[in-house]
Amino acid sequence: MKNKKKVLKNKKILLGVAGGVAAYKSVDLVRRLKDEGASVNVIMTDASKNFITPLSLEIAAGNKVYSNLFDDPMSHINLPKETDIMLIAPATANIIGKFANGIADDLLSTCFLSFKGRVVIAPSMNWRMYDNPIFQENLRRLTAYGIIQVGPDKGTLACGEEGIGRMADVSEIIETIKSAFSKKDFFKKKVIVTAGPTREYLDPVRFLSNRSSGKMGYALARACIRRGAEVILVSGPSNIEKPHGLKAFHTVETTREMRDEVFKSLPATDVVIMAAAPADFSPEKEEKAKIEKSGRLSVNFKSAPDILSELGKLKNKPFLVGFAAETGRRLDRAKEKLIRKNADIVVFNDVTAPCSGFDVDTNKITIIRKNKELSLPVMTKDNAAEAILDAVSGAIGKQGGRQPIRKLRANRRRR
Ligand code: PMT
Repeated sequence: MKNKKKVLKNKKILLGVAGGVAAYKSVDLVRRLKDEGASVNVIMTDASKNFITPLSLEIAAGNKVYSNLFDDPMSHINLPKETDIMLIAPATANIIGKFANGIADDLLSTCFLSFKGRVVIAPSMNWRMYDNPIFQENLRRLTAYGIIQVGPDKGTLACGEEGIGRMADVSEIIETIKSAFSKKDFFKKKVIVTAGPTREYLDPVRFLSNRSSGKMGYALARACIRRGAEVILVSGPSNIEKPHGLKAFHTVETTREMRDEVFKSLPATDVVIMAAAPADFSPEKEEKAKIEKSGRLSVNFKSAPDILSELGKLKNKPFLVGFAAETGRRLDRAKEKLIRKNADIVVFNDVTAPCSGFDVDTNKITIIRKNKELSLPVMTKDNAAEAILDAVSGAIGKQGGRQPIRKLRANRRRR
């Protein structure tokens, strides 16, 4: 695949594995970081070796695993010097206590003290330890120094009890690391993203829908979060994992429901990205009972609400990004949609082209503005999302005649 740009490509990560039961997840974490293009050095505390062997991590990382402060007396200086970001997962109460109090009595804690870059910690422990005010004070001290915390989650803990203390999901940790490397040009911007298909019911068991999986919309929601936005995701039926860090998540079935959720969330919104594939038609009548099988069935359809067009008609509309799903290279139709729906950007994708459109991890897009277009090669939907946000950010920055976002918000409050 062309243009397989990865956010973590060539990034050097120093992973500290402390002695908690979640240490077994570190192997998966290392693999996933490497899949994202990073290189990983691992430091294990002595206690962590009770849960996992250095060999497993050495194989996953493809690098020697470090542990002893005195094997190489300069490793606590040299390892951090070669590191872009330090990640401690799992971060136990013990290692957090050492970090917060400047204790440096092993390789991991000395590396932490000598490291000059960003540090992410993924706490993991029993809820009783997590609740302890001394631990909470240590955690507060670290976050006050700018250390980024991810998790912990609530759920069943290793001891069988329910409570807070589970290490964050590996995917959430990876998103946090990616976010630490992302520009924050959407900081505090309120963005609504729609994703997935809608369903228009003929009767209680049958509906009209389409092949949208939600992948493009969810990739956009994740990218907006990484870049600092407050994101509301309005999603049709999809099997994709809900992105971490959303401000709100609304699931809908019909185009009418999607329209209503978008409009409910609209006040003070800066950007709406309509990546969903809402149905254009709905049956004139939804039968209350299952339609019995017979020789033929004719159904009359009426138009479903056109959400993007409705948004485009608003007096103080937010910045609008639409998509154009076309069969064939019909850029002319995408340009016509830009004008007709009064969008600021339309992203053309040919849903019949290989590796593009519905239910694949890649897309081939052309980003269209009034007097500009940018055709991009096939790329992952994550990278396509980044490219779309670059275009939005560039356009908002040069909005010339348009009202600046803060003024728009103020006007809306006054109405
Ligand atoms: O979900 P995936 O499997 O990842 O697939 C991604 C995608 C192909 C669905 C996505 O990239 C895409 O093209 N989404 C738009 C699909 C679509 O409805 O295209 P359209 O050309 O029919 O609509 C134009 C625009 O109007 C779109 O922004 C659409 O969200 C919006 N629309 C359409 C119909 C409708 N009733 N209301 C709308 O707001």
